[in-house]
Amino acid sequence: MTAEDTLKPYLQSCQKRVEQALEKWLPARNIQPTTLHEAMRYSTLNGGKRVRPVLVYAAGQALNVPPETLDGPACAVELMHAYSLVHDDLPAMDNDDLRRGKPTCHKAYGEATAILTGDALQTLAFKVLCLASTLDCTAETRLEMIETLVLASGSRGMAGGQAMDLDAVGRQIDLTQLENMHIHKTGALIRASVKLAMLAAPTADKNQIRNLDHYAKCIGLAFQVQDDILDIEGNTEALGKTQGKDQAQDKSTYPSLMGLEAAREMAQHLHHEALRSLDSLDVQADPLRWLADYIVRRSH
Ligand code: IPE
Ligand code: IPE
Ligand code: MG
Ligand code: MG
Ligand code: MG
Repeated sequence: MTAEDTLKPYLQSCQKRVEQALEKWLPARNIQPTTLHEAMRYSTLNGGKRVRPVLVYAAGQALNVPPETLDGPACAVELMHAYSLVHDDLPAMDNDDLRRGKPTCHKAYGEATAILTGDALQTLAFKVLCLASTLDCTAETRLEMIETLVLASGSRGMAGGQAMDLDAVGRQIDLTQLENMHIHKTGALIRASVKLAMLAAPTADKNQIRNLDHYAKCIGLAFQVQDDILDIEGNTEALGKTQGKDQAQDKSTYPSLMGLEAAREMAQHLHHEALRSLDSLDVQADPLRWLADYIVRRSH
C-alpha cells in the first residue's frame, strides 16, 4: 500500500466526521434571516479539504484524545477558516470569483451578505467552542481553547497576516517579511489546530507539546508555500479557484521572491523538518506524517 492509499480513507473519515458536526451547528436555511443562513451553509458545506479539522483529529490521535472530544474544536477551526476565505475573496481583498469550484460567496449572494457571512461564521466558531457538549474538559481548558483561537485569528494572527499580504502588494518585501506574513495569515490557524488538540490532552508532556508545536509551525508555513506554488503550477479546475491570481495581482509569494525551484526546495525542507519533529512519537502519530506528505504533494 502506498502512503496515498492509507491517507485517503483517513482523510475521508475525518472529513465526514467534521462535516456532520458542521451540519448540526450551522443554522438551517429556513431559519430567519434565511439568506444569511443559506450563505453561511454555502460557504462552509462546499467541499473544502478540511485540512485544519483533520489536523485536530490527527494530533488528538497522537495524544490518545478520542475524536468525539475534538468535534467542537475541529468545527470551530474550520468555521474560522471558512470565514477567512469568504473575506479573502471579497473585491476589496483578492477579488476572486471562484472558490471550491463554485462562485465565491459575494458572487452568489452579494458583497454585503458575504461580509455578514464572514462575521457570522467567525462568531459561530466561538459559540461552538463555548458550547460543544462532547468536549470533555474543565472550564479553564475551554477558555484556553477560546484564547488559542482568538490569538490565531486576530490582528496578531490570521487577520494581521492578511493585512501584511495586502500591504505587500505592488512592492518588494524581503524573505523575512514574507515568512512573517505566511506564518500569520495561514500558519497561525494551522498551528492553533494542533494546539487545540494538545489542550484536550491532559497527559501530554512538555516534550510532546514542543515537538508537535514545531511540527505544526513547519507544516503551516509549508501549506502556504505550496498554495503559492499551486497558483503557478496548478490548474483552475483542479484548484477550484482561479489559477494565476497572485501574479495578476502582484502578490508577494515564495515563487515570486525566490523562484519556483527554490520555493519547491523550501517546501521539501519544511516537510523534512516537520517529520523530524515527530521522531519520538510512535505509530499513533502516523496520520500527522501522512498529512505532512499530503500538504507538500497536493495538487489542490
Ligand atoms: C486556502 O486554504 C487558503 C489558504 C490559507 C492557503 P485551503 O487550501 O485549506 O482551502 P480549502 O478549505 O481546502 O478550500
Ligand atoms: C489566504 O491566502 C489566506 C487566508 C484566507 C487567511 P490566499 O489568498 O493565498 O488564499 P487563496 O489562494 O485565495 O485560497
Ligand atoms: Mg489572500
Ligand atoms: Mg486569496
Ligand atoms: Mg493563494
